[in-house]
Amino acid sequence: MLGIGGGIAAYKCADLTRRLIERGAEVKVVMTEAAKKFITPLTMQAISRHPVFDSLLDPTAEASMGHIKIAKWADLMLLAPATADLIARVTAGMGNDLLTSVSLATGAPIAVVPAMNQQMYHATVTQENLATLTRRGHLIWGPASGEQVCGDIGLGRMLEPLKLVALIEEHFSDNDLDGMSFLITAGPTREAIDPIRYLTNKSSGKMGYAIADAAAKRGAKVTLVSGPIQLATPTNVERINVQSAEDMHNEVQRHAGQHQIFVACAAVSDFTPVQVADHKIKKKTGCDKITLSLVKTKDIIASVTAMTNNRPFTIGFAAETQDIEQYARSKLTKKNLDLICANDVSRKNQGFNSDQNALHLYWANGDKLLPLASKIDIGHQLVSEIVTLFNKNK
Ligand code: C5P
Repeated sequence: MLGIGGGIAAYKCADLTRRLIERGAEVKVVMTEAAKKFITPLTMQAISRHPVFDSLLDPTAEASMGHIKIAKWADLMLLAPATADLIARVTAGMGNDLLTSVSLATGAPIAVVPAMNQQMYHATVTQENLATLTRRGHLIWGPASGEQVCGDIGLGRMLEPLKLVALIEEHFSDNDLDGMSFLITAGPTREAIDPIRYLTNKSSGKMGYAIADAAAKRGAKVTLVSGPIQLATPTNVERINVQSAEDMHNEVQRHAGQHQIFVACAAVSDFTPVQVADHKIKKKTGCDKITLSLVKTKDIIASVTAMTNNRPFTIGFAAETQDIEQYARSKLTKKNLDLICANDVSRKNQGFNSDQNALHLYWANGDKLLPLASKIDIGHQLVSEIVTLFNKNK
């Protein structure tokens, strides 16, 4: 339940809601009268995909979902932006509008996200109110420091949506994978041709990063061997940066024995130049053609599944454009994998470089389709499937 107060930071609630939904949350919105001056209920309704609640005394609204029902529906109530006024009203236990009434009536934890001018934030009464709310068990998230819309600089900025999403996820995380460890490869590799040129592919690394993030959020120890990509390292993930397939192979070899699960999500180059030229390869007059000799790279998965001691439970990916099941199953056997995740890269809006993906999982005696969803969502589902299979195979 997102309770929006009347502050300029209210506009951030649109992005916050979108990002929460992207991660699988259901969001319903309650707005104060003042909040509606900063962002429209229509915007919040469209993004949250639910009607917005804004009136305590509207018989039609009360009939469809009364304030007590709304209060009971929530798993977490977020007050954002929590203005000095909203904080004061909640502290005083007032119920003079729908938002404060719902805050009073809910049994869910309440997270207060202060956002106001720095002087108002430092006002003794605001500080005392926040101290009272903390004592009552409310969570206080923020504020951040920085430049304010009024021109002041200081504490009082609302936390950014991504930071709030991380706090919410942390709040709900039950650390059920505490004690488990994942080694994950992600992204493309770069095979040097000369000091400034290389061969690579279109892999964005998003799928591997999403798996790493999902496992770490549930308390697993995660080592991510990443090809060259710009994505931010997920929280609580140890990232090892590599360039070539050879580097990735070496790092995986170094770490595989210390992890229970190995997920090979990287799009490893299958071939690499036989020789890296010491200097930039120059054009020569009269020479319209050059030949690049390539040699096969080492199969990283094969070296892991060949381990005789501490072989991790191993998951591979198959990017196919046709006869997906047949190719995936033959790869499962040939590569001696425990699970293979096939994605159909011929389809638009999924796979390489997209934010969405659908995977068909195949293992020795079963299969399961994870239908099209955000890569973050697929990451969570996949981690759950991997852990279930791993525990069955123990
Ligand atoms: O054989 P193919 O490249 O289609 O298999 C894809 C799977 O193999 C992916 O999981 C990828 O990370 C892994 N792979 C590897 N080492 C290579 C090439 C691919 O581990 N040299």
